[in-house]
Amino acid sequence: MNFEGLYADRAKCMKTSEIREFFKLTEEPDVMSFAGGFPSAEFFPMEKVSEVITGLIDEEGKYALQYGPTEGNLDLRKYLAHKMTVEGIPSTEDNIIITNGSQQGMDLLSKLFLNPGDAVIVEEPGYVGGLGAIYNYQGDRMPIPMDKDGIQVDILALKLRKLKMEGRSPKFAYLVPNFQNPTGISMSLERRQQMLQLAKEYNFIILEDNPYGEIRFEGEPIQSMKSMDTEDRVIYLGSFSKTFIPGIRVGWIVANEGVIQKLACAKQATDLCSNSLGQRMAYRFASSGYIDTHVSSLTARYKEKCDLMLSCMDKHFPEGVTWTRPEGGFFIWVTLPEGMNARDLLYKAIERRVAFVDGAGFFVNGNGKNTARFAFSEACPDKIRRGIAILGEIMHKELAAFNKTKSA
Ligand SMILES: Cc1ncc(COP(=O)(O)O)c(C=O)c1O
Repeated sequence: MNFEGLYADRAKCMKTSEIREFFKLTEEPDVMSFAGGFPSAEFFPMEKVSEVITGLIDEEGKYALQYGPTEGNLDLRKYLAHKMTVEGIPSTEDNIIITNGSQQGMDLLSKLFLNPGDAVIVEEPGYVGGLGAIYNYQGDRMPIPMDKDGIQVDILALKLRKLKMEGRSPKFAYLVPNFQNPTGISMSLERRQQMLQLAKEYNFIILEDNPYGEIRFEGEPIQSMKSMDTEDRVIYLGSFSKTFIPGIRVGWIVANEGVIQKLACAKQATDLCSNSLGQRMAYRFASSGYIDTHVSSLTARYKEKCDLMLSCMDKHFPEGVTWTRPEGGFFIWVTLPEGMNARDLLYKAIERRVAFVDGAGFFVNGNGKNTARFAFSEACPDKIRRGIAILGEIMHKELAAFNKTKSA
């Protein structure tokens, strides 16, 4: 059977993320990998999880193993509504839908709002999962460059004006304001306020994706856009993947009641309901206060890894290479001199069993060839020390060769 020619128009543009393909290689145990943005499995509370699962099956197995409501487990939704309210986003359970991870949230929101060709504002570089969801629904992604304070709103304002002259306006802007994947950069308060202002002026929605916000090692938390939103214009995505465990696949969306009802219709056709056992686990862990304590200890341990990777970079990376110094999250973003290719460096690194992700995959139009993402979340200290030292060695050599050809 030849399926070519039978795929729907929207499926023709679907392609696997290069980054996902690349993970297969990095799973080999001797590889010193800074590629996957995974939480560290050593922080998973295995024994406690096992105890809670046993308790759940004994005490409420007939519900925990059953289908549940499409909007999600009511206790969990009430818990999350309270959590959001405490974080400055007044909510009731009617403002919350549970999703199978925030990635499903992105998919459902794209399904709900995008017609083919609709303009969508995205950060450049941006999170591949978000970019992919928009692409799969044939959204027309409009990348706006980032600087140290997040998406550059002055460039966005020019873009919006230009779009308006063409009779277009974006449906939504997709933003990861805290410790962004892939750069580790956080959007300043001023930028968040300006973003809300532009969204109002040009009448678009903001999707605020915040899976890393609670993993802050330094600096003061910055108000979410959703908490400053007076018009229900911001739709917020949360997740237990980084603060607890990703395998339960539990995320949530906060939005006005009408949007939540539409999302429930969209989700019904996708999977009927989210993981019942996972939701009940999340509820038990979260409502007992366990997750809050866990996040504090996680944050301290991720800080150690981040500090170690930064100090190894300071020691080993050559002059001319720069990198971000995140205040939280999982990622450091490295920029090589203009004209150098991070993919070439990656091939050399792989030969020495070191891996990272070159940056071009985070750019809509294949730009950013001289950039790379380094995740410090998963690797152990020994691999961080050895891997960064090896990369430093390779970089010194490559940079010397690059400078030589440039001056020739
Ligand atoms: C910015 C961002 N959003 C969403 C996700 C997906 O998270 P979840 O496991 O909740 O689907 C990730 C995962 O890496 C991410 O980095």
